[in-house]
Amino acid sequence: MSAGRPRRIAVIPGDGIGREVIAEAVRVLAKADRQYELGLEFEEGLAGGAAIDAVGHPIPPKTVELCRRSDAILLGACGGPKWDRGPRELRPEQALFTLRKTFGLYANLRPAIVPPVLLAASPLRREIVEGADLLIVRELTGGLYFGAQSRTGEREHAAALDTLPYSAAEVRRVVRKACEIARGRPRRKVTSVDKANVLETSRLWREVATEVAREFSDLTVEHMLVDNCALQLVYNPKQFDVIVTENMFGDILSDEAAGVMGSLGLMPSASLGDRPPGLFEPVHGTAPDIAGKGIANPLAAILTTALLLRYGLGQEAPAAAIEAAVLQALQDGCRTADLAGGRPALGTAAMTDAVLARLH
Ligand code: NAD
Ligand code: IPM
Ligand code: MN
Repeated sequence: MSAGRPRRIAVIPGDGIGREVIAEAVRVLAKADRQYELGLEFEEGLAGGAAIDAVGHPIPPKTVELCRRSDAILLGACGGPKWDRGPRELRPEQALFTLRKTFGLYANLRPAIVPPVLLAASPLRREIVEGADLLIVRELTGGLYFGAQSRTGEREHAAALDTLPYSAAEVRRVVRKACEIARGRPRRKVTSVDKANVLETSRLWREVATEVAREFSDLTVEHMLVDNCALQLVYNPKQFDVIVTENMFGDILSDEAAGVMGSLGLMPSASLGDRPPGLFEPVHGTAPDIAGKGIANPLAAILTTALLLRYGLGQEAPAAAIEAAVLQALQDGCRTADLAGGRPALGTAAMTDAVLARLH
């Protein structure tokens, strides 16, 4: 691949532990680049609170242009108490929404796997989680996050409105994407999650999902209400293969699934549209409670670089090598504080060194 054109990676560290884990993830990507001669070029961009402080806006046009010229975007996380008071358009999180919408990244893949070596880290009993391997496909460019919002009145007369719009086309493309992914997995099952007993958008969601299922007669497609899904994730996570759901439900269920795995610090994500660049980021946020201490778990960000290589650049071999190196480090007993259960733990950089030493 080195003989071809260079591949530009837009690197957006963001805020808090986003900055800490992205620095480590780039070290891993750079080593994979050297070993596999991928021809990667890294270029850093500003977004989130860091951009508000520097230029007064959460996502300067220069950053969007950098992403447009790039083959893939690697992002840490945006946000923090320092910037929590601003109006909607001037909050750090707006950077995420702009990138998701601008690049049409409607499918957000969030895998939750419990490797045997981490069974003890899960808050659930071994027999419940052993063998769990599920993928949440979260719709990412519609619903409450992008519906009209308003605020009127003051004090007791204050009122607020959020709206939850979905079109059939928006539902169809993400359910199709989930079904295509399920085809490549051994169990070939899709659970479409909604609140069709209450919400009109969910009734549309279920109708369209039922239509899409007819195109995929080789898959098992079932429907589940979101409250029951939240329960089933802790009762019996092994029943799930691919879960597809709307934006807000996916946000909540994916943190829950990460908790079932043992830590949010383990869950990577890939946000994909119909063309590059995809956006690759750990599921966790900026973790203000541990930021600046050098103890954040870098594995979600490192596993995110594997998704970037696989889905963003079509490079399976280095992606699998990074995942294998992470697994080997865990098997050798390396743990950050979130997984150590009070025992001595490695910091962010030392955990990354452990992965680098096992990356071949
Ligand atoms: P969070 O994900 O930052 O933290 C939740 C909990 O998980 C905290 O106790 C934190 O210490 C722990 N945690 C998270 N990642 C960890 C890691 N890698 N290693 C060890 N522990 C880890 O969620 P929050 O506290 O609700 O949000 C903090 C800020 O981050 C908010 O401003 C929020 O808007 C933002 N946020 C951004 C993104 C993103 O940019 N994609 C995602 C989620 C939250
Ligand atoms: C996530 C985050 C974001 C979301 C926030 C920070 C806006 O929680 O990526 O999961 O809700 O999409
Ligand atoms: Mn979230």
